Amino acid sequence: MGKEYNVAIMGATGAVGEIMRDILEERKFPVKDIKFLASARSKGKKMSFQGREVDIEVLGEDSFKGVDIVLASAGASISKDYVKHILDAKALIIDNSSAFRMDDDVPLVIPEINPEDCGLNKGIIANPNCSTIILLVPLKPIHDAAKITRVVVSTYQATSGAGAKGMAELEQQIRDYAAGSALKVDKFAYQILHNLIPHIDVFFEDGYTKEEMKMVNESRKIMHEPGMRITATTVRVPCLRSHSESVNVETEKKLTAKEVRDLLEKAPGVTVEDDIHNKKYPMPFYVSGKDDVYVGRIREDFSADKAINMWIVGDQLRKGAALNAVQIAEVVAREGLK
Ligand code: A2P
Repeated sequence: MGKEYNVAIMGATGAVGEIMRDILEERKFPVKDIKFLASARSKGKKMSFQGREVDIEVLGEDSFKGVDIVLASAGASISKDYVKHILDAKALIIDNSSAFRMDDDVPLVIPEINPEDCGLNKGIIANPNCSTIILLVPLKPIHDAAKITRVVVSTYQATSGAGAKGMAELEQQIRDYAAGSALKVDKFAYQILHNLIPHIDVFFEDGYTKEEMKMVNESRKIMHEPGMRITATTVRVPCLRSHSESVNVETEKKLTAKEVRDLLEKAPGVTVEDDIHNKKYPMPFYVSGKDDVYVGRIREDFSADKAINMWIVGDQLRKGAALNAVQIAEVVAREGLK
């Protein structure tokens, strides 16, 4: 029998944390023991794992004794506050937050793209931003075949990107609107119901948001292309779950739409859903709960010599977060890195 791991989920009760639990079960990750860590608000509650009820523990400095792998999704400030205690306990942290992603000595990994970077870890492996993961899974095979020279991406990001409270805020606004009550706004800058908000995370002085620059900087790091020309506009939309992206990709070598379709059909982690005559294209409602990144509306950009337009949809909670983190843990286990 292979090695089994003591695993802790930090932020286990959150939108991503719960799905990390589900995916560990579904993919039969070799878990010896599991710890569910959350805030004092969750004290006394339980979560099920492999048919048994497990007490949720309140996160503390001593939470990591005997733990091999921490899957962290309680936010960047919690990751920063607890990383020392995790490393002191000789555990490996696979961190879903933005806290360490751009640190030079922290690998930033999408297992379909750069699994080998896991070997460079010094105790921390970072899980990329959700929109970045969903973008790059289909871009990598295009880059390998034809060398990407520029990417222009606009995102349509679901409320799940703001965690369980983001989803709950949209659901509450739907109920309050139907009841004729005033809508409550907390997680987003404005009401999200019946609206689109071109503002995710904070603004920088140059007019970009932090979310947009995460997509730029993280893409360059993951693809090992520090000069990659890429620009993004990120928008919050009133969907509950799954992010969509409109992408324009320029390449050095010309690719036809058919060639892109053929490439993506063979690509790991990608499902092509592209049959306009039968109204087949990916949509967030239907992609929710799926593991692959779905690609459709693949067409040649007639305004440029060598460019393709595509529409990409991925479940932000699964491939955009929890699944990618568990896949990193699988690389760690397979390569004997822990
Ligand atoms: P809790 O449910 O006890 O508040 P989401 O991203 O869906 O908002 O989830 C955030 C996760 O991080 C939840 O599991 C939440 O636990 C946890 N969390 C938030 N703040 C803290 C904290 N100060 N200490 C420990 N866990 C926290």
